[in-house]
Amino acid sequence: MGIYLNNAATTWPKPAEVAEAMSKFLLRGGANLARGANSERDLNTLNFVLDCRFKLAEFFNGYEDCDPRYVTFTGNITESLNIVLRGYLKPGMKVLTSSMEHNAVMRPLRFLEQQGVELKVLECEPDGFLKPERLREALSESKYDLMVMSHASNVCGTVQDINSIAEICSEHNLNLVLDTAQTAGVLKLDAVKLNLAALCFTGHKGLMGPQGTGGIIWRPDFASQVTPIISGGTGSFSHLEYQPEDLPDKFESGTPNLPGIAGLNAALDWLNATGINKIAAREHELGEYFLSKLKNFNGLKLSGKQDMNGRLAVFSINFDGFDNGILADELSRMGFETRPGLHCSPSAHKTLNTFPGGSLRVSLGYFNEREELDKFIDALSGAVK
Ligand code: ALA
Repeated sequence: MGIYLNNAATTWPKPAEVAEAMSKFLLRGGANLARGANSERDLNTLNFVLDCRFKLAEFFNGYEDCDPRYVTFTGNITESLNIVLRGYLKPGMKVLTSSMEHNAVMRPLRFLEQQGVELKVLECEPDGFLKPERLREALSESKYDLMVMSHASNVCGTVQDINSIAEICSEHNLNLVLDTAQTAGVLKLDAVKLNLAALCFTGHKGLMGPQGTGGIIWRPDFASQVTPIISGGTGSFSHLEYQPEDLPDKFESGTPNLPGIAGLNAALDWLNATGINKIAAREHELGEYFLSKLKNFNGLKLSGKQDMNGRLAVFSINFDGFDNGILADELSRMGFETRPGLHCSPSAHKTLNTFPGGSLRVSLGYFNEREELDKFIDALSGAVK
């Protein structure tokens, strides 16, 4: 088994309880959601899906005292962002984003721009940080309908000053949509405190759940202004040929990923029992250790923040004269899993001055050990000699 250093792509390993819950559902549960009658299996499915909704609402401090109706399940955060952006933004509306975004934000926005939505991209600093005054300046020049941005970069781990950004958005009555792909489960998030119009999350990264899970925590007044981009059967209001307005049904047509939700439910139990502070502290400590080792390399360029202040344990590096794809390939042959290239984030790499070559990304997770990092550092030294 290799050493896994690609946790920004998906966390691994997952807590054992996740696979156990999924297998239990597939082997012994298996009933669809709200598409049966009152058998024990039907009720079990209803119960664990509702349980997971409650846990997510509480985990992110959702609206109306963590009302589970304002939690939507999706297949991944890309779907969450598409539901929010394509469902809300209409031709003639104006949207802001940052230059550090992943294509999960950029591609829907560029598509909408072609349909007549006005897009302004706020330029971040070369370390990936969005100065809150950039947002203030934009808002002093024009009025916008929505701001969408990631909480932290999937490329270099830079964490944005989301408290200041959220405060400015609230002052200007601007809807703020947050992409928490890299921070959910790693940093504490509070949807109500930040007054988020929508908090978009994925289940398979910091939340430690399976791939194919994600969702949205909605502010109720905002959800009511969003048109569903997918409509169909919801297992409810079956007399209607029109999509119900009631949540969560409005945004959840079709059979959901029930084995995935069972796994996510178990992952949330594990997260709550472990504690987000412990997870954050562990990743921070591993990050400090890894950075102290990186400092010994000649000719290494680290993107983003140069110490652990204001960053996650996601490191993008380059060596003069080395192609990061070839380096990653060499490292994987030695048993180390990383991700080279552009990480689906061309705009972020342009901001960091690493476009078009990209970088070698090494992303640590809660289950990594110092000894694994030592072995990686030795392998990297050998590879760049
Ligand atoms: N967005 C994920 C990554 O950065 C998949 O690798």
